[in-house]
Amino acid sequence: MTFYPLEKLHQLHDGYCRSFRAGGKALLLVQVEGKTHLLENRCPHMDAPLDRATFQANALRCPAHGIEFDLDTGSAMGSLAGCIGNLQRFSIAYEGNTLGVML
Ligand code: FES
Repeated sequence: MTFYPLEKLHQLHDGYCRSFRAGGKALLLVQVEGKTHLLENRCPHMDAPLDRATFQANALRCPAHGIEFDLDTGSAMGSLAGCIGNLQRFSIAYEGNTLGVML
């Protein structure tokens, strides 16, 4: 596995949302309510990119059709829970003052 650096820790803040490519994957790094999440930048519903997603509490809302996903579990929320796949989440790795991912 290889460490792919993504962002300096001091750059993160609530409302942070930035896309990256690393190890052949499209990733989305976000910080919501003090928690940092690293996700695949692709909605499991119909593959829409999530760069323009909106966030409320612990939910990501896909801009394409409005499905909401729980940021902690990746699962769809509400009546669609269990009906579509989960948002893919990645573990965050750290090297010094840099946040990244092992792929
Ligand atoms: S592609 Fe995301 S909700 Fe449909």
